[in-house]
Amino acid sequence: MERKVIKIAPSILSADFGRLAEEIRMVEEAGADLIHVDVMDGHFVPNLTYGPIIIEKCRQITSLPLDVHLMITNAEERLDSYLDAGANYLSIHVEAVRHLQRALDYIRQKGAKAGAVLNPATPIDTIGWVVDDLDFILLMSVNPGYGAQSFIPSSLAKIEAAARMLREAGSKADIEVDGGVGPGNAGSLAAAGATILVAGNAIFRAKQPALALKDMASAAEAARR
Ligand code: DX5
Ligand code: ZN
Repeated sequence: MERKVIKIAPSILSADFGRLAEEIRMVEEAGADLIHVDVMDGHFVPNLTYGPIIIEKCRQITSLPLDVHLMITNAEERLDSYLDAGANYLSIHVEAVRHLQRALDYIRQKGAKAGAVLNPATPIDTIGWVVDDLDFILLMSVNPGYGAQSFIPSSLAKIEAAARMLREAGSKADIEVDGGVGPGNAGSLAAAGATILVAGNAIFRAKQPALALKDMASAAEAARR
């Protein structure tokens, strides 16, 4: 069985925005694989964050792939702005789009990796018919909107179900997990089948952020399938 390498994606939602460039360079030097950027519109989720202008800025700061997580209503009408701003991975919530397959296909046509995101209450079989159209599944392990929330334990079984679904379909898509992830649970998530781990609070608010990132990566690597 192919051994996948786990990717760590620090979420800048928990970074110090007054020092955003330094924060991004810090995680890059510590070994981050992706930079996770949470776009919230105050409508699909209660919180409001940043959009294409900040993504363009991130694009200038780092050469790491930008992993843009869209938590916005009518996401399919806004794909171009995020792709043009420099998103390399672009994920859309199945709860926020009308034509999921079309949107995933469009993202891929534009040369980015396409991801489908599921809220904690959304079942995995909602994406059963689009497995061939996605590069990654993003499983929310908290209800989206804020950083520093507690990991929802049932997410572990959902990761296993997603891994099973991908295996049965012969898909090599990644499984990304987002919310309440850190060095303490990175191992169990990787063992369940997660291949991309997002962490905001556990990295940027740690006493030693670089160390927290490295601990996460080594715990995940040691436990991966
Ligand atoms: C939550 C966001 C997450 C958030 C995770 O809606 O999608 O990416 O930054 O934050 P932590 O790792 O602090 O739970
Ligand atoms: Zn996110």
